Amino acid sequence: MAMYNDKVMDHFTNPHNVGEFDNPDGEGTYGSPVCGDMMKISILVDANDVITDAKFKTFGCGSAIASSSVATDMIIGKTVEEALEVTNKMVLDELGGLPPIKIHCSVLADHAIKSAIYDYAQKHGKTYAGLEGFDPNAPEDEDEHAIPEELN
Ligand code: FES
Repeated sequence: MAMYNDKVMDHFTNPHNVGEFDNPDGEGTYGSPVCGDMMKISILVDANDVITDAKFKTFGCGSAIASSSVATDMIIGKTVEEALEVTNKMVLDELGGLPPIKIHCSVLADHAIKSAIYDYAQKHGKTYAGLEGFDPNAPEDEDEHAIPEELN
């Protein structure tokens, strides 16, 4: 257990925003090419483009659960454009760090959020600068697995 800090353990044992909506405004699933774990994120978006609620389901490890828990907390109340600025590095910072071999678990949350927003944008005919070049089906960039310097 010493592998994880208290905040990670807290979000793992008592995750926020677990589940899904009957009629989500956007939803996205992402499977990690590293481990095969899956994450699904669903969002509700109001007329002002604010994410009013977000939920996740994961067939993933404890770090993926903790990452999705904080990541969904972070995007609720943000506009779609602001939510697109949330990076896996910010999720990691919010968690107080993950062991280096678990960094990709936070990438899973980051990609699932972008996939959910991509779905929302497609269904509502919207475009966002933060989605430019994002392809939900594209293989993950190798350098996204790079370990942030402070965790090395
Ligand atoms: Fe795959 Fe954590 S080990 S998401």
